[in-house]
Amino acid sequence: MAEVVLKNVYKTYGENVNVVKDFNLEVKEKEFIVFVGPSGCGKSTTLRMIAGLEEISDGELYLQDEFANFLEPKERNLAFVFQSYALYPTMSVYENIAFSLRVRKVNKDEVDKRVREVAEMLGLTAVLPNRPKDLSGGQKQRVAIGNAIIRNPKLLLMDEPLSNLDAKLRTQMRVELAKIHEKLQNTIIYVTHDQIEAMTLGTRIVVMKDGIIQQVDSPKKLYQNPINRFVASFIGSPSMNFMDGRIQINGDHMYFDVLTKSRFDEKSKFLLPNKVKRALEDRFIRGNEAILGIRPEKFSYKQKSENDQYIDVWVHARELLGSDIYAYFEFQGKQMIASVPADTEVEVDSHVRLYIDLTDACVFDKETEENYMYIDSREEKRA
Ligand SMILES: Nc1ncnc2c1ncn2[C@@H]1O[C@H](COP(=O)(O)OP(=O)(O)O)[C@@H](O)[C@H]1O
Ligand SMILES: [Mg+2]
Repeated sequence: MAEVVLKNVYKTYGENVNVVKDFNLEVKEKEFIVFVGPSGCGKSTTLRMIAGLEEISDGELYLQDEFANFLEPKERNLAFVFQSYALYPTMSVYENIAFSLRVRKVNKDEVDKRVREVAEMLGLTAVLPNRPKDLSGGQKQRVAIGNAIIRNPKLLLMDEPLSNLDAKLRTQMRVELAKIHEKLQNTIIYVTHDQIEAMTLGTRIVVMKDGIIQQVDSPKKLYQNPINRFVASFIGSPSMNFMDGRIQINGDHMYFDVLTKSRFDEKSKFLLPNKVKRALEDRFIRGNEAILGIRPEKFSYKQKSENDQYIDVWVHARELLGSDIYAYFEFQGKQMIASVPADTEVEVDSHVRLYIDLTDACVFDKETEENYMYIDSREEKRA
């Protein structure tokens, strides 16, 4: 059974301001779905339409196979956790968690049992008698989550629940949310603008831009097989690097002709690996300009294979991040980043030859920004 189905859903404000356009998604039971995209792309609006807090302008919503467009929020058997969680300041943690059962007149023993279970799961047992003002930010957010999950909702909707926490707490809560999902075995739809949160939490991720779904896929697939430049650039940290150029064919070989060279670079052509060549032979429109997409970790200070291509660059900054170093350089007037192992001698203000492994490179159409390397998994299944 599908838990949530959205069919051709639109949200329109005023005459024709479409903030969500033709949204189609089928969420299965027990999935952890993440909506991710830049601020203003329509994530919250979509979530609020599912919750019944926002009217659906056009299209259909089904909850557990029931047509749900016109159901009241409280008829929807779901719970919602917001970014700014409101706790009752005069009530204890216990009472805050118990609240939604109390208003439903659940008997006292049952309430007590559930509150203790939920508190245990969320690590709040020790603070049950405390007032919210005595809690840390992370604890407060956990109380809000406890309040939402105490009724054991089949569907839990969360809108940027960790945005108000500091970085360390966010990481910690991320791990805890994954555990909660594991234990509750419910369906979660989670909104965030943070791609790292999306990648670590989601079993499937819905990438949105300007109210339109770009791609729905597992974290791994999104990273390895982005449908277009937007997804390629949004997913992954640091971001993919992009080079402008043109595809050239010379006999059996295919090349990426780099349009403008850096001041230090002598070489202007990359021989493309067979995998890239085959994909382009099928799809590339001759004469079009192209953009080559290279993940930061595909650059290396050492040559690893005879197929490696290279560029000569000037490294102007570096950042050490534990196991990796990011080397910053300019290419075609844009900042690019190479991510190399921390034991690499990365000197600032130095001239360096960077080797490039192009095996998994992306090639985008300059106009449409679609990725020629993209494999539609439906096609893959058929093949
Ligand atoms: N009541 C409204 N009237 C007009 N536009 C609105 C209204 N509410 C939200 N919007 C617009 O809808 C777009 C999507 O908003 P939202 O769903 O909150 O984005 P996100 O959660 O992805 O940041 C934004 O451009 C926002 O300005
Ligand atoms: Mg939002």
